[in-house]
Amino acid sequence: MQQFGVIGLSVMGKNLALNVRNHGFSVSGFSIDKPEVDAFAKYEDDKLKPCYTWEEFVNSLEKPRKILIQIMAGKPVDLTIEKLLPMLDKGDILIDGGNSNFHDTERRFKELEKKGIHFIGMGVSGGEEGALNGPALMPGGDEEAYKEVAPILEAIAAKTPEGRPCVSYIGPSASGHYVKMVHNGIEYAIMQEFAEVYDILRTVAHKSDDEMSEIFDKWNHGRVNAYLSEITANVLKQKDDLTSDHVIDHILNVASYKGTGNWMLEDGVALGAPISVIAEAVIARFMSKATTREGQAPSYNGDVPADLIDNLEKSLQLTQAVAYAQGFQQLTMAAKAYNWGLRYPAIAQNWEAGCIIRSAMLKDIEKAYEGGKELDVLFQDPYFKKLMKENLPALRSVVEVAMKAGIPTPTLSASINYLESIFNPNLPANLIQGQRDYFGAHTYKRNDRKGTFHTEWYEEK
Ligand code: 6PG
Repeated sequence: MQQFGVIGLSVMGKNLALNVRNHGFSVSGFSIDKPEVDAFAKYEDDKLKPCYTWEEFVNSLEKPRKILIQIMAGKPVDLTIEKLLPMLDKGDILIDGGNSNFHDTERRFKELEKKGIHFIGMGVSGGEEGALNGPALMPGGDEEAYKEVAPILEAIAAKTPEGRPCVSYIGPSASGHYVKMVHNGIEYAIMQEFAEVYDILRTVAHKSDDEMSEIFDKWNHGRVNAYLSEITANVLKQKDDLTSDHVIDHILNVASYKGTGNWMLEDGVALGAPISVIAEAVIARFMSKATTREGQAPSYNGDVPADLIDNLEKSLQLTQAVAYAQGFQQLTMAAKAYNWGLRYPAIAQNWEAGCIIRSAMLKDIEKAYEGGKELDVLFQDPYFKKLMKENLPALRSVVEVAMKAGIPTPTLSASINYLESIFNPNLPANLIQGQRDYFGAHTYKRNDRKGTFHTEWYEEK
């Protein structure tokens, strides 16, 4: 009898199954796509079993069955569950490792709970390489069921530099997929920040692809020690197969997306979360499709400030912190609204290795939330407050140069606005309230006495 089963054997499912086998657990793999099973069968041994039918797969698993569904999010997950249900026994555990919408996960969790089947919605990050060698895992759902699968998940997960696994129980219901959605929103924001810095480096500082690659590599060993720095350096230096140029100069500048960033905005709006930088990053992808491309590309022949490169590094460090801060801010609001009791240090730890947004900074975030500390905003923590104080002038000067050069900086600018707003006791929303009360008698609160007020602004005729 096999200890674990995987449904869906395209690259993620196959690699996760191999990862399970490589850690000494026996695993069955099944796909409705026969060529995928054939490819999987090449790895067959006493611990790895390819299955060609649903029955063969389900019957090969020890009880309670532990089944990871690693297929395209959406309808296919419902169809798979529907197909499996008559073959399962009470107490079996289904794990959805796809990028499912958390509303779907919530519904599936409730439906399966009624049938006595445990459901775990699990965020999986790290791409193909991570799936094989150590992904970051974000499982949410039934805690007892999590305990059953924890030994396997802890074995296959990435490990932090101190050797701690990048997996822990996130919380009930859809919280695991919610945390993955927020991970992706942060991913969008940091990627866009890198893109804007790249734009400034090439347009203002006139750096070549190889020079930029070296700069990002240096930052990866400096203030911006992050997987995204590492891959940006690699992407920039890659030569093209089809021309003698660098491939980056022939990649069409239209950004795609599969929806997780959009979902984060949808729920952010529902919660009233001020995730402006993440919103700008999502919208920048829309803009890359929507721009008419009728104008001239920005060019800059003005002075290049001597400290530009240094300021860009500081800006990226600070704006990366803002992306995390906004992600955690939405998580804090969601945890309250949905009653999830999230453990923020554990979430930071889950992201310290294996995932796309891994960086040295996550350790500082883990420390900021340690001991159950409640922060409305990450920048209330002394380490991040200091970072903000030290790096904000650099970010201001970078955005100033970009403005002069006509380079759009949606996330860098939004980061400044966020940082200028979160501690500001004097935001001008009093005027909004006055206007609302003027045209709609919406009432307002006062800053000098309790109660709700309305002013007769004009005489009705
Ligand atoms: C990860 C990634 C991954 C995500 C891709 C694509 O953590 O491994 O977040 O799950 O699907 O990055 O996302 P977009 O196609 O929306 O850019």
